[in-house]
This record gives sequence, structure tokens and C-alpha cells, in this order.
Amino acid sequence: MTTAILSALPEEQGSLVSALEAPERIEHASRVFWRGRLEGHDVVLVLSGIGKVAAATTANALAERFGARRMVFTGVAGGVGEGVQVGDVVVATEYLQHDMDASPIFPRWEVPGYGAVRMGCDPALAALLAEAAAEFAGRGQGAAAARRVHRGLVASGDRFVSTAAESQRLRRELLAAGHEVLAVEMEGAAVTQVCRDHGLPFAAVRTISDRADDSAHVDFPAFVRDVAGPCADAIVHGFLRR
Ligand code: ADE
Repeated sequence: MTTAILSALPEEQGSLVSALEAPERIEHASRVFWRGRLEGHDVVLVLSGIGKVAAATTANALAERFGARRMVFTGVAGGVGEGVQVGDVVVATEYLQHDMDASPIFPRWEVPGYGAVRMGCDPALAALLAEAAAEFAGRGQGAAAARRVHRGLVASGDRFVSTAAESQRLRRELLAAGHEVLAVEMEGAAVTQVCRDHGLPFAAVRTISDRADDSAHVDFPAFVRDVAGPCADAIVHGFLRR
């Protein structure tokens, strides 16, 4: 069974490619896919690039061309939930698209054709990621030490959320409709939808790089440069060992 591991940026992939046994590099659909073995599993590693469309085309290629039977996304996110701080880890149990709005034809945030605002991740995969994240958090090493592991709803959209005003509005509007969002990023909901179309299990783990506020543009690049890679390495290896 092939496990696909996606990340948006090279730093979010850590040193997973160099840890591959029997690596094979394949160019397809303007992406570089790495097939190989990791912790005894057949895996495909790929960088999706940023945003929902890039993530969706990548996930579709993984399903159709690379025979992926389950998918995991590893990367960073902006914390918007109360108590979701830089360095914490969020394991997504559900996703929504915060920039989806086909109202008044469909309810706000509902994905047309799916009859739902929220799409669930695979509970078993999410549980394995949460175990691996907790093990990593428990280790408490240096700058890459995760503080808390949260599980819950993550929102994706084609926006880098970089003001406290936007982040608070997003959180408040969704909360008023009963959706308590922990974090924002730009890919996961798209991969969730593609995996749902193909009937494949998907889950995601995101380390919090910034608070999606007025200093996000400074915090995000520093965190991605220094911390995202070691987090991805530890959590993905821990996940595959389970
Ligand atoms: N990924 C990490 N931080 C983010 C932010 N503030 N907005 C969107 N995606 C992000």
C-alpha cells in the first residue's frame, strides 16, 4: 500500500527525501515525485506548491498516476483558535474552505455538489498522526519542541492571513455558524476533497508557524526556515513507525 506524503514548501518536507531507501525521482504534471521506502512503507513524497488548486492537482496525480492508497499532509499553519500558539501542533480532524462562498445559491462555505461545509479527515489516520505528534511534543527538544497538540477543524483558503483583524473576523464569523477553527492554511481542504472523490483516507498535521496576525509575515518565514523541517521529520517518521 502506497502512502503519499505531501507538503507545500521544500522546508516543510524536512529531510524526508534524503531518508528514502531506493529513491526514484519522477517528473509529472510540473511536479517532482519521489518514490521509495521509508520506515518499511512504500511512499511517494511530493511538494504540492501553495494553494488549493496546486494541492488538488497534486493529490489527483497521486491517486491516479502513483497509486496512493492513503495521503498525509505535513506542513505549517497560522493559529487562529484560542490557545493555539506558535510551536504547537494541530492535527486536522475536519476541513473547510473559508473562501468558498456560492451564496445565495448555496449556504456560505458549503462546497457545491457535496452538501457540506465541513469534510472529515480519516479518524484512524488522524489518530496515528496525533500519537506521533504527542510523542514529538513530549520530547521537548530545542526550538523544534512542540508545545501542545490540538485536534480539530482547520480552514483552508487561497489567502495568507496576515492581519489580526482578518484572522479575528474569520474566526468570529465561522464560530457564529458553529465552526470552531483552530488554524488556517492554504491546501488541506483541497486534498480532503480530492481524497473524498477517490475514496482515499486523508489526514494532515500542521505545526503552527504564526498567529495569522500582523506579525505573521515575519514569524512565518523564520519558523519555516528554522523549525518546520525538524517537525516534519520527527512526526512523519513517528507516524510511519506506528
Ligand atoms: N500557513 C501558515 N501560516 C499561514 C497564514 N497565516 N495564512 C495562511 N496560511 C498559512
